[in-house]
This record gives sequence, structure tokens and C-alpha cells, in this order.
Amino acid sequence: MQSFIRHRRLRRKAFLRAMVRENHVQLEDLIYPLFVMEGENIRQEIPSMPGVYQLSVDRLPEELEELKALGILSVILFGVVHDEHKDDVGSQAYSEDGIVQQALRTIKATYPEFVTIADNCLCEYTSHGHCGLVRDGEILNDETLELLVKAAIEQARAGADIIAPSNMMDGFVTAIRHGLDEAGFKHIPIMAYSVKYASYFYGPFREAAHSAPSFGDRRTYQMDPANVREALREASSDVLEGADFLMVKPGLAYLDVLAKLRETFPLPLVVYNVSGEYAMIKAAKERGWIDEKGIVLELLTGMKRAGADLIITYHAKDVARWLAE
Ligand code: PBG
Repeated sequence: MQSFIRHRRLRRKAFLRAMVRENHVQLEDLIYPLFVMEGENIRQEIPSMPGVYQLSVDRLPEELEELKALGILSVILFGVVHDEHKDDVGSQAYSEDGIVQQALRTIKATYPEFVTIADNCLCEYTSHGHCGLVRDGEILNDETLELLVKAAIEQARAGADIIAPSNMMDGFVTAIRHGLDEAGFKHIPIMAYSVKYASYFYGPFREAAHSAPSFGDRRTYQMDPANVREALREASSDVLEGADFLMVKPGLAYLDVLAKLRETFPLPLVVYNVSGEYAMIKAAKERGWIDEKGIVLELLTGMKRAGADLIITYHAKDVARWLAE
């Protein structure tokens, strides 16, 4: 008899398969994004993101109660402001009573057990919708850093547990680290969106956050989707500058990048399962074309297998329900 290796021996029973399973999606891995909107009594579903809502600060506690009951205790916050409160410099990003700062204070006062992550960027607050200051059609780097530092300090003052800069200006980790340290926030970690691609998958988010650029695109600061060595350079510089977490964004089309970073860096790795990825699944589900639960769990498991420690995902609530079943 010719000899061969019997892999199926370990697949014979469900519990045996569970015993040899290499990767798991667990509640502690999930970070839920919240869109906090100016105004009162707002709980507005985002059309391209069924099940995800823009919420005013007064409607946040009920959302947090739901998340807590599901076992999700980590949120990343985005602000949604009206056009008349936007300006060239995105001042709502760093004003003491900017919408995200208000939300952070509310969370701290009502549900202090949550780990709050503050997205640090200008695009939700600038009239032109770019992530940095604009002069003659150019996105200015170093001038933008000063504003991001101010925003990070206000976010930390308001109670952010982690600052997550998503703006893709060079030097943002150094600048924010120094700013936080000098302001007395040495203990606040930086979750750097180190490897953020210029992606079509952000479409639904820009609708949700009113943050689409009014001219041009983000290709002079976000990365070219064709590049992976450049991802290692971006991540290396953030590590040298003192990042505490590294992020890859989007997820699905970039799992090879995640795997490369996993091989190269020992830091906690975060993947952002972005809005376009969510919207595609929800649309197919609404048509009855896919098994949503099976597909979402398979995708998130793939992200873990590729090397993610944490997953920012709009599916978090659904996943928590499925894991509890
Ligand atoms: C802000 C930011 C974006 C996302 C997160 N932070 C959008 C962008 O860069 O235009 C996208 C998240 C998603 O699509 O879910 N810079």
C-alpha cells in the first residue's frame, strides 16, 4: 500500500476541529465605529450602511448600553458636522466642544468602562473635505501637523483612551507623541493608521461622515493600492516614531499587506474592515444572495489568520450576537 498522510483524521468531529482551530474571532478583537452627529435626538440610519446610525450625543448612551450588553467595550469615534460649522482649517476637530470631544465626555461620564478611540483627522471638519490644510490646491504637511496635535490633546483631555491618527500626513506619530507628552498625556497610546490606501471602499463612510473631498482626491497623501514595499516603509517610520499599534486599511483587498506587517513587526496590528466592504455584504444579503453570518465570520477569521489582532468593523454587533448563539 502506497503511503500518504491522512489530514482528515483531525476533521472527524466538531469538537476535534475546534481543538485544532488556529484562529478565532472573539469579542475582545472587535472595535465598533460610532458616527456622532451635531444636533439632538438623532438616530439616523446611513442608507448605504444598513444597521449603522448617525447618533447625536444625547442618543449615545442607549447605543453604548446595547454594545455593552453584547460585550463590545471598544469604540472608535467619528464626528459629523453641518456644513455651516466647517471651515478651511477644520477647527471643530480641535475645539474644546467639538462634537467628538462632547461624545468622549459623555461616554466617560456614563460608561467609563469603554475603551474610547478618537479618530484624528481634519476631513470631517474642513469645508474642502481634505485631511489637511490646503494652499493653491496642495495639501500642506507640516502646517497640518500642528492642528492634528491640537486635536489629539483636546481628544485626550475629553477622555480618549487611544488616539488614532488617520490623516496620512508624514510625521504625525512624532508630532502627536510629543504634543501628548508635553500636555501630560504620556500614558495615551497612538493607534497609527500607518498603511492607509487611497481606496474606493471608503465611499459609504464619506456619505456617513459628510467628508468627501470637494475637489481632487486623496492620492497625494493616502497610499497607492498597488504598493506593498511602501507599506513596510510607512509602518517602519511609524514604529520608529513611537506608534503603539499599527493599522492596515482597508481589509479585504489588503490581507497580503497585513500578513507582511505581521511577519515584520511585533506591535499589535489592527485592520479596518471599511464601509464599502460592509455595504457590499449588506446589499447581497438584502437580495438573498449570500449567507450573511457565514460570510462575515469567514471574512473576519481571514483577517485574524492574516495577522490582525484587532478588527474595526461595522459588523461588530452582528458578530457579537452570532458568537453568543
Ligand atoms: C478619515 C477616515 C476615512 C475613513 C476612516 N477615517 C475616510 C477617508 O479617508 O476618506 C474610512 C472608513 C470607512 O470607509 O469605513 N480620514
